[in-house]
Amino acid sequence: MRTPLIAANWKMHMTIAPAVRLIEEVKAALGARSGVEVVICPPATALSAAGHALAGTPFLLGGQTMHWEPKGAYTGEVSGPMLVDVGCRFVIVGHSERRLYFGETDDAVGRKVRAAIECGLTPIVCVGERLEERQAGRTDAVITSQVRAALQEVPAGALQRLVVAYEPVWAIGTGQTATGAEANRVAGVIRRTLAGPGKDAAAAVRILYGGSVKPENIREFLEQPEIDGALVGGASLDVQAFAAIVRAAERRAPG
Ligand code: PGA
Repeated sequence: MRTPLIAANWKMHMTIAPAVRLIEEVKAALGARSGVEVVICPPATALSAAGHALAGTPFLLGGQTMHWEPKGAYTGEVSGPMLVDVGCRFVIVGHSERRLYFGETDDAVGRKVRAAIECGLTPIVCVGERLEERQAGRTDAVITSQVRAALQEVPAGALQRLVVAYEPVWAIGTGQTATGAEANRVAGVIRRTLAGPGKDAAAAVRILYGGSVKPENIREFLEQPEIDGALVGGASLDVQAFAAIVRAAERRAPG
């Protein structure tokens, strides 16, 4: 059984004081969770303070992106070892906003995934088709090629360390979502792509759904057999909404 995972992507929101306040509210609302992993991904400037606020809780810290080199002349970038240094265990890689606004290519995503694994971080690799790709019937082809690119440099035996988030680009921040059944179908495509020869570990990889997840629709995704949780943007900034999403995942947790 795969442990459900709910990840909060705060994007470019929250200076330090409100970030710490929101974490205190999440802690108060959720207490000690069991059976579901909760990862909070604040912006880089709030990571250190957020890490301190999360110390001693079951909630884990994640970065929103990273560079593939451990250090060097890359002005403005943050490396995997730097994320580890502030207490991160996870990192979002290849979010569609990175791909769209910052020119992040499949090739860069592949290098980042490898670098994340090498420094002990769990990458949450985002894949998803744009609206015009869906309308052209290219969803599966796009997803398959994004997953293959992300896997390109993953060392043998490390596959099960990956988390993949299926985030249809047209569903992010729009209030529109894929249906549970369609998200489950695409998650199946992702799992079959992960499961190449010698890659039995694909069954252990957690696949999340992302794109306008809210307390009102989370159950539709969690009840799908291929979906193991969610990557939550907007609703993760609202403590009551986020807590309700985590509680829904807890009810689905094994044991
Ligand atoms: P959203 O964002 O929940 O606001 O749609 C999801 C994401 O971008 O990861």
